[in-house]
Amino acid sequence: MTHSSLLRSDETLFRDPEVFEFTYLPGEIHHRDAQVRELAFLLRPALRGGSAGSAVLRGPPGTGKTTTVRRIFREVAETTRRVVPAYVNCLHDRTPSAVYRCIFEQVLGHAPPTTGRHLDEIKRGVAARLREHDAALVVCLDDANYLTAAGTFNTLLYQILRLYEKWDVRKAGVFAVTSDLALNLYAEADASVRSVFHPTEINFPPYTRTEIREILADRVRQGLYPRVLPKPLLDRIAAIAAGEQDVRVGIDLVRAACLRAEKDGRRRVSPGDVTAATRAVTAPALRNRAAGLSTGERALLWWIAERSRDGADMASGAIFEAAQEYLPVGKTTYHEHLNALANAGIVDLVPGTGRGREVRLRYDAGDVATACKPRTQPAKSRTDHELP
Ligand SMILES: Nc1ncnc2c1ncn2[C@@H]1O[C@H](COP(=O)(O)OP(=O)(O)OP(=O)(O)O)[C@@H](O)[C@H]1O
Ligand SMILES: [Mg+2]
Repeated sequence: MTHSSLLRSDETLFRDPEVFEFTYLPGEIHHRDAQVRELAFLLRPALRGGSAGSAVLRGPPGTGKTTTVRRIFREVAETTRRVVPAYVNCLHDRTPSAVYRCIFEQVLGHAPPTTGRHLDEIKRGVAARLREHDAALVVCLDDANYLTAAGTFNTLLYQILRLYEKWDVRKAGVFAVTSDLALNLYAEADASVRSVFHPTEINFPPYTRTEIREILADRVRQGLYPRVLPKPLLDRIAAIAAGEQDVRVGIDLVRAACLRAEKDGRRRVSPGDVTAATRAVTAPALRNRAAGLSTGERALLWWIAERSRDGADMASGAIFEAAQEYLPVGKTTYHEHLNALANAGIVDLVPGTGRGREVRLRYDAGDVATACKPRTQPAKSRTDHELP
């Protein structure tokens, strides 16, 4: 029995707190059947003594790319020795030697010796083990955009895909993953790589609000005791996460709201818990986003937040005209600033029916005003706009 079972069950609202950790691998992956089928299809030849196909997995952050691959890799590792999956997190490992050490460790089950080893020896170790089991290697290069940034993408791809030529093993499959939609990983590959890299494109579209709700509901069932989180609050959290286009925000919100209720000794989450948790969860993201803005962009954002708090017309044209008094910028600069705010993920520019677009804040207007407080205040006085 675990320690938590020694505590009285009414002292915690969490049936299993691990369910809300970011490393948690869910038992069931929802709404990714098509992607799972594609990946399984690429692995199938390797199960029959051939080699696995390759793929480029693409989708915005939080769309289940890592989860889907880890899930399939786990299943492969549990069911067969003929396919050996190796998962590489390219944020951590982006040099050829770091990536090969990581592959070595997963193929052989222990770390390679740390000193004085040539890369070739590590590769030889990997190849020897693969030959021994007549196994095919499948490597997932997760967040491969870090490899293109480090200039190691082509070298690595080339080496992994052509491992078989030198070492007499079956050809490896590579699943290259990126959340950078502007990056085309196939186009990044040079000619010598492309001749052996024919990836299937697998897309991970953003989840809808309903899908996010189902994913969260499943997590709640696994991780919380029954009736801790009332349904309307789960709906509200799902809506916020959908607005942020990130399931992770939803998972964090559920956890943070429950912790608040627990701390107060309550057995149910209240609307106030969700409101407070939303602030805490979204504030760091908002601060980071605002930190990257120029002085001019911040000044405009502050002005937009104030207007939104006053309930004024949020059409981009109306904002421009009203801002003239306070922000001496021309129309071109104004639109550049607006686009920068949209790119930073702080506002959405929604096509409207009338003039221009509607400027919609993604965060609470008061929080936005606080996050981008200009050094010198236009218009209103400092104490004035700090009032709730
Ligand atoms: N279909 C799903 N079913 C259950 N949980 C999911 C699903 N999709 C995502 N999640 C959960 O959402 C979180 C984010 O998923 P994941 O890390 O797989 O996203 P990602 O696409 O790899 O994002 P990034 O590009 O930022 O790395 C994880 O906690 C994961 O458990
Ligand atoms: Mg990921």
